[in-house]
Amino acid sequence: MDINSKVNLNNNLKMPVIGLGTWQIRGKSAENSVLYALEAGYRLIDTASFYNNEEEVGNAIKKSGIPRGDLFITTKIWNSEHNDPEKAFNKSLKKLNLDYIDLYLIHWPVQERLKTWKILERLYKEGKCKAIGVSNFTINHIKELLNNSEIIPAVNQVEFSPYLYQKELLEFCKLKKIALEAYSPLTRGANLDDEKLADIARKYNKSTAQILIKWGIQHGLIVIPKSSNKDRIYENINIFDFNIAKKDMEHLDSLNDNLHYCWDPTNEL
Ligand SMILES: NC(=O)c1ccc[n+]([C@@H]2O[C@H](COP(=O)([O-])OP(=O)(O)OC[C@H]3O[C@@H](n4cnc5c(N)ncnc54)[C@H](OP(=O)(O)O)[C@@H]3O)[C@@H](O)[C@H]2O)c1
Repeated sequence: MDINSKVNLNNNLKMPVIGLGTWQIRGKSAENSVLYALEAGYRLIDTASFYNNEEEVGNAIKKSGIPRGDLFITTKIWNSEHNDPEKAFNKSLKKLNLDYIDLYLIHWPVQERLKTWKILERLYKEGKCKAIGVSNFTINHIKELLNNSEIIPAVNQVEFSPYLYQKELLEFCKLKKIALEAYSPLTRGANLDDEKLADIARKYNKSTAQILIKWGIQHGLIVIPKSSNKDRIYENINIFDFNIAKKDMEHLDSLNDNLHYCWDPTNEL
């Protein structure tokens, strides 16, 4: 595994194993963060219409001069946009100043999800996005989708960390060939001082953030830590020079406490 390692999605599209999360980074800071990330070697950028930074992400992409084909850009349709998913998609495309999106996700399992999925299937077939997927979908939401759709989602992006080790969902997605992508992999900063985690980090001479990211990648996940700080953006991708031993992976697994730092979609009908 190295900085260029990729996961093979169920339609053969290759998706980098690590990317930059951009929630709550706006304006110039968003543009700069994406530029730092691209300079550090990130090739996957995760945004959403809800984040209100697609324009800045697009500016950074242009400024970086990196060939479009080397990048992997994810954006998402927000809850208030399901009345016209195609319009939402085109709006994101325009703000990002791109010709296509690599991965377009349903951000949240709202009621209109099946109807929206049909439109995403069409956008995919028209080549406007290279893959389509979902976010915050539970096993039940995925089962419902699989029973009512033509195309299997390529990705399910959910909150995932040792403190929210969703093993059943991970195994289910593996079985259905849906790649799982871990958001809030750093527990939004909340658990970075946990002593049990710090003990393991010391052993590898790595930061607790680096351990959390590598834990996800070693579980086969795509991981998208957010930072707007140049040093931490570099730190978070500097994780390919070590491996967490099996015993320590198990120890990390055992930290699970079903801790959600974002929304819990379990009761979303
Ligand atoms: N689909 C969804 O519903 C959904 C929901 C939530 C998140 N996401 C995606 O997932 C991404 C990541 O999740 P997140 O933003 O919730 O949280 P996160 O990545 O778990 O944590 C980000 C926090 O950790 C800090 N941090 C980053 N690197 C650090 C390091 N090396 N050492 C110490 N602190 C560090 C950041 O501060 P600094 O910026 O100051 O470094 C920030 O406060 C989002 O940005 C977004 O793209 C998706």
